[in-house]
Amino acid sequence: MCGIVGIVGRGLAAPLLLDALRRLEYRGYDSAGIATLVNGGIERRRAEGKIARLAALIDQNPLTGTTGIGHTRWATHGRPSEVNAHPIATERVAVVHNGIIENHAELKAELTAAGAVFESETDTETVARLLDRSLASGASPEEAMAATLKRIHGAFALAVLVAGRHDMIMAARRGSPLALGYGEGEMFVGSDALALAPLTERIAYLEEGDWAVVTGAGARIFDSENRPVERAIRRTAVSGAMVGKGNYRHFMEKEIHEQPAVIGDTLKSYIDPATRTVTLPDLGVDLGRIPRVSIVACGTSLYAGQVARDWFEQVARLPAVAEIASEFRYREPVLDPGAMALFISQSGETIDTLAALRWAKTQNQRIVSVINARESAMERESDGVLHTLAGPEIGVASTKAFTTQLAVLACLVIGTGRARGTLSPAREAELTSALIEVPARAAEVLEMDAALRAMAEEVAEARDVLYLGRGTAWTIAMEGALKLKEISYIHAEGYPAGEMKHGPIALIDEQVPVVVIAPAGPLFEKTASNVQEVHARGGRVILMSDKAGCERLAPLCAHTLALPSVHPFVAPILYAIPAQLLAYHVAVLKGTDVDQPRNLAKSVTVE
Ligand code: F6R
Repeated sequence: MCGIVGIVGRGLAAPLLLDALRRLEYRGYDSAGIATLVNGGIERRRAEGKIARLAALIDQNPLTGTTGIGHTRWATHGRPSEVNAHPIATERVAVVHNGIIENHAELKAELTAAGAVFESETDTETVARLLDRSLASGASPEEAMAATLKRIHGAFALAVLVAGRHDMIMAARRGSPLALGYGEGEMFVGSDALALAPLTERIAYLEEGDWAVVTGAGARIFDSENRPVERAIRRTAVSGAMVGKGNYRHFMEKEIHEQPAVIGDTLKSYIDPATRTVTLPDLGVDLGRIPRVSIVACGTSLYAGQVARDWFEQVARLPAVAEIASEFRYREPVLDPGAMALFISQSGETIDTLAALRWAKTQNQRIVSVINARESAMERESDGVLHTLAGPEIGVASTKAFTTQLAVLACLVIGTGRARGTLSPAREAELTSALIEVPARAAEVLEMDAALRAMAEEVAEARDVLYLGRGTAWTIAMEGALKLKEISYIHAEGYPAGEMKHGPIALIDEQVPVVVIAPAGPLFEKTASNVQEVHARGGRVILMSDKAGCERLAPLCAHTLALPSVHPFVAPILYAIPAQLLAYHVAVLKGTDVDQPRNLAKSVTVE
């Protein structure tokens, strides 16, 4: 949710911290700040808004010092403002924090009663004040850190700068990820490997409950019981070069256009094109024997899970449910011991999904995750992992992560069907052949960019947009509506086409564009009837179908987009792409901040 970074360096820290914050900006962008040690004292620069404003401030008023910490914020406690921007500092310490201190109210009451005067509305300030109090009473920085970590509850990653100690920073993680980067005579701390990519390739991840004293020479790491521990230093595959926009105006546009390649890469790692069979890694679960699967995720990843739910039942005949991660455990679902709980996440660190995963473990579920980012908390805590090979996704709206999730899930469903004996070799070959076709068909869809831009002009004028579909196309309708609302701020709803007549039909008039996702297949005729219903009420239909479907329904539609014909099984992967492009072009026309839409963050690490 927020991004944090720290450097114990040899040269000026501020430019490196700023650079690292730019790579973390996708995690939050409503305020940012940096603190360094200058002549032993804490110096800060903070600004409301994006990193560019902080950079301008530092340009005007440079910050020296070789040791420092930085933060880019997605506000939870306290509105976005300079006073609530991190680093939160006292005379003795400066703190950057990602996560939530759950007992901040009682800590604040206790500290205030003892004479502390709080300057910000943040929960983070309780950490700074606890550290300050310990240091003031003569504790060493290490003692102050150990004592403070005992008092705070919640999920957090922290980096701490101590006045007078230009040779070190301290770091801690509970719930939120934190990586240590090892340089030559300098050390780094960051929320993810991407932040540290140009600084070092050598990364160690702190584990749950760990904290560390980081100096230029290395790190002393302690576990939650304050016992010294070693954490493996690995070479990360993440490279700084991966995070450019190339010739595209926005990361989202670039990521949409990368889909043929990354879907192809992902499929190649699970399908043998010669034998048309799927090979899955060992997932720590016998797919032939599981009684059911609960698929758990948030947002766009949940929509990938909803498509997979239908696939599991239709193709593998395995009972499946798709669950909203933030609701899952509170609903107290009845789970069969030994069943599979399948978690889907681009980031691997969404706290709602991670908390659901941890709860599922307590319910004796076998944990399998589909993850894009490497070395995440979810990956470490799963029995088996299937990776999507989308590469770093920087645009806040998920695009290539979604379609690669669908590609992986399709392979998992095929593997499950085979293991259960519900999928014949001929059907496996038919479905894998359909999947192998997807990258080429996706490239054809990208050629329709100009047509989608033209449709976007109509949608950009609307106040509300309805998306309709049936079966897996209903899920793509919901995903299309989510994309539109999050980046264009136009209200949009995705609805099962057949359910429209039970309520939403009242909304339909010539002002409300209705985007209908109607791939060829057993549900096409039913959806065609719903198009009739919209047309009869003066609604303006934007139809996405194949050539035959578009020809059939053209008289009832304001616009049609004829997509390449594909097997109905893979249609949701392909039809997601025009929905993404439509939302993208509407957002560009409306002039919104496409890659960093208001109020959102890429990786949501608070509940
Ligand atoms: C929407 C979007 C979000 C994420 C959701 C889950 O475009 O990106 O809805 O899909 O926050 O994130 P991950 O997949 O990282 O768990």
